[in-house]
Amino acid sequence: MGAGTSQDVWGSWILERRDGGAGASRSRLFERLAPVRDQILQGTRIGEGGTLMDVGCGDGLVSLGALDLVGPSGKVVFVDISQQNLDFCRQAVEERGQLERAAFRFASADRLDGIDDESVDAITTRAVLIYLPHKHLAFEEFHRALRPGGRISVWEPINAHGEPEPPDTILGFDLGELAPQSTKVREAFDRALPPDRDPMLDFDERDVLSWVEAAGFTDLELRLEVYDEPPRPPADWEAFLDSSPNPLAPTWREAIDEALAENEVEPFLAGFRSLAECGTGRYRRAGAHIIGVKPA
Ligand SMILES: C[S@@+](CC[C@H](N)C(=O)[O-])C[C@H]1O[C@@H](n2cnc3c(N)ncnc32)[C@H](O)[C@@H]1O
Repeated sequence: MGAGTSQDVWGSWILERRDGGAGASRSRLFERLAPVRDQILQGTRIGEGGTLMDVGCGDGLVSLGALDLVGPSGKVVFVDISQQNLDFCRQAVEERGQLERAAFRFASADRLDGIDDESVDAITTRAVLIYLPHKHLAFEEFHRALRPGGRISVWEPINAHGEPEPPDTILGFDLGELAPQSTKVREAFDRALPPDRDPMLDFDERDVLSWVEAAGFTDLELRLEVYDEPPRPPADWEAFLDSSPNPLAPTWREAIDEALAENEVEPFLAGFRSLAECGTGRYRRAGAHIIGVKPA
């Protein structure tokens, strides 16, 4: 379904498919993301009375965290191309009784329609630009929307450090001993998101730095974090099968059902489960946090 309807690909991923809808996986994800959120917000140096815009707000990880920082006289502008995510955030803000300090805009990061020039003090973004084919346009828009002296604090996964993965490895799980079925499942993921046309793989932190600089930001700070670790055993196996690594990819269950014959599914699942639960494999996760200032 398209953006603007009650269900959309971004909304259904954030609110269901990212963690298969299970509470245990969701709280584990939040534990991992909370320090990233804090780091992003600290990078903005936003305080009482400021206006912060969070672009690609999702379910509000960063933007809901900003509401208390800006206080009753400040404003948080929630921006997303998913009406479902914007509605979710609006409800969360309403439940906190803080609607008067929030605004909601349906707009794309690379074309911030409805956002005035020099109208915000800080811009945050986490895991959004990775999906854009022309990522530099977003930094030009951020520069336009910021007041002089305003700051961007952007954190993006740098998937090019961990992908493409070795054959028969899927999202870090080494499933080589389940070949040829694992090869077919891996091909189903690759068909959905061909690695050579994947906007999540066509850049690294040096590109981010050069786009930010070219857009006119100064006082740049760039931090790259790289973690090389075994994939974590699923917190809830059924929910794990209903989860997908990103909004453009199938869930494990969808990929397995598409790739394998009916009689291959159960034996593959049994083998996969025992490998996954003992944490076989390795995955390299990386993320870049960039801060920049629009000159006053
Ligand atoms: C991986 S989620 C991240 C959500 C949130 N920033 C967080 O840190 O949890 C990506 C978000 O970006 C939004 N998004 C995708 N493409 C976008 C675009 N071109 N402009 C603005 N938001 C976009 C999606 O709707 C989704 O909410």
